[in-house]
Amino acid sequence: MRMGVKLGGLAFLWLCLFVSLVSAARLHSSSRQKFQVQKHLNRLNKPPVKTIQSPDGDIIDCVHMNHQPAFDHPFLKNHTIQMRPNYHPEGLFGESKVNINSRTEPRSNPITQLWHASGKCPEGTIPIRRTKEDDVLRASSAKRYGRKKYHRFAKPRSPDPDLVNESGHQHAIAYVEGDKYYGAKATINVWEPKIQQPNEFSLSQIWILGGSFGEDLNSIEAGWQVSPDLYGDNNTRLFTYWTSDAYQATGCYNLLCSGFIQINSEIAMGASISPVSGFRSSQYDISILVWKDPKEGNWWMQFGNDYVLGYWPSFLFSYLADSASMIEWGGEVVNSEPDGQHTSTQMGSGRFPEEGFGKASYFRNIQVVDESNNLKAPKDIGTFTEQSNCYDVQTGNNGDWGHYFYYGGPGKNSKCP
Ligand SMILES: *[C@@H]1O[C@H](CO)[C@@H](O)[C@H](O)[C@H]1NC(C)=O
Ligand SMILES: *[C@@H]1O[C@H](CO)[C@@H](O)[C@H](O)[C@H]1NC(C)=O
Ligand SMILES: *[C@@H]1O[C@H](CO)[C@@H](O)[C@H](O)[C@H]1NC(C)=O
Repeated sequence: MRMGVKLGGLAFLWLCLFVSLVSAARLHSSSRQKFQVQKHLNRLNKPPVKTIQSPDGDIIDCVHMNHQPAFDHPFLKNHTIQMRPNYHPEGLFGESKVNINSRTEPRSNPITQLWHASGKCPEGTIPIRRTKEDDVLRASSAKRYGRKKYHRFAKPRSPDPDLVNESGHQHAIAYVEGDKYYGAKATINVWEPKIQQPNEFSLSQIWILGGSFGEDLNSIEAGWQVSPDLYGDNNTRLFTYWTSDAYQATGCYNLLCSGFIQINSEIAMGASISPVSGFRSSQYDISILVWKDPKEGNWWMQFGNDYVLGYWPSFLFSYLADSASMIEWGGEVVNSEPDGQHTSTQMGSGRFPEEGFGKASYFRNIQVVDESNNLKAPKDIGTFTEQSNCYDVQTGNNGDWGHYFYYGGPGKNSKCP
């Protein structure tokens, strides 16, 4: 009897000790997480010269060009910023051969960024979308914030079905390969596709790819995206991405790690673009050009006809330090529905290519930069989609639009259950 009481008391003591240890550990890990998040925010958000409150809730910090995140990189400590590329594949600035907004029929309209309604960044600074605590807390860890959550090993034309389906990423793209490419261009129709789950996204972009689809894939990406996980809303935003190891340890979206060097004071990576196209209504599109400076080897990016945004230094990459081996244009969504159900997250406008202008989303005037640094029509364009009943792609070619394609779809429907 007494023995029983003794043992019971001892067990109770142990239980108390265990409970307090567990709660101490919990407390420790939550304050540790807060500390990690704060540390990460301090690293990302540089002291601004001026702050602009955008109508969509974003805060745009105007940060001195020399204090941008790129210069946290040890290899960029002594870097002299290049204020303009040595070479531009379209010749002189402002004399773009393809004037997109006036004469062409069907008509589409120019586009801007929402935060411009509230002010401008001073010369010598660059606009950076401020990262908020909530942005980082939505990521699985501070370290993963700003990174794509998958490894892309599958290659168009010969996809590994398990990998394609396992990662849940679905594409509808046009592509070229088998040559050396030094850049790519496209004018991309802008929409605001519906996203079913907050952890899914829908994007439309150019991929500049180097190496094989393995552990060391190099990729430079630019376009528009809707990503509630990354931005906390359903707005359509301009974005860039880069990686030199197939999305594993290097690279990120926008300026969320050190890498891209921005020189432009008017366009903010990750900021909302406005207006977007409406069904059977006004159509809006953005032009994106990415090209390699033949002298310095840096990869430059231009938005529209007027905005040279900046460059990715050549040393960030292995294969792309020389040239790209493949260019892709098109859409990508994440399907995270369980039990083999398909998501109803839309790609493009949420309509299939057959519906055409004003209804389906398009890429037009798609071009590549060749070995002589000239913009050229792509040769032997291939297309790829995992499940054409969910999202599809259709290419075409005419005088006004050059090489173009319509792409996208609604996701879940009677043929894509
Ligand atoms: C930067 O310059 C200093 C002084 O010239 C030199 O010692 C250092 O190695 C350089 N760092 C890099 C990363 O090039
Ligand atoms: C992915 O899975 C779907 C449905 O399970 C199947 O129809 C499709 O063929 C698979 N994708 C590929 C590329 O094999
Ligand atoms: C985004 O859109 C989905 C539906 O498409 C909606 O459920 C969700 O509340 C929206 N998120 C925000 C932050 O507005």
